[in-house]
Amino acid sequence: MKIAIGCDHGGVALKEEVVALLKEMGHQVENLGTDSPLSVNYPEFAEAVCAKITDGGCERGILICGTGIGMSMAANRHREIRAALCHELYTARMSREHNDANVLCLGARVIGPGLALEVVKTWLETEFGGGRHLTRIEMFS
Ligand code: RB5
Repeated sequence: MKIAIGCDHGGVALKEEVVALLKEMGHQVENLGTDSPLSVNYPEFAEAVCAKITDGGCERGILICGTGIGMSMAANRHREIRAALCHELYTARMSREHNDANVLCLGARVIGPGLALEVVKTWLETEFGGGRHLTRIEMFS
């Protein structure tokens, strides 16, 4: 799968670990920055990742900031984006199964890398359930 990934200064270290995992899992990764600890504005990176998805270049996206909150707010302003902020495995699974989330947001200051990588794996490996869940997401897409 082609996956776009972006972060702000709060998410650089976790992003490096997530990128390594994605490659290990055999995914194609488009890293859209930032790759430096200098302070940046997270909406710019949310925009870049969402654009990759809406233009068809990537199927999914992952956004990381300090809390994951700003990234999820910015990403969900796009009609075709369904961004889910997940810090444990249940919501990671359900965001795919029920909501067909196409962007995963993580807060690097909220969870450690061990759990974050498990969240990413679960999120990537869970299929959308369709049926009544499709009817529901079509109501806001
Ligand atoms: C940056 O300090 C911080 O505000 C950002 O990473 C994020 O947590 C915003 O939601």
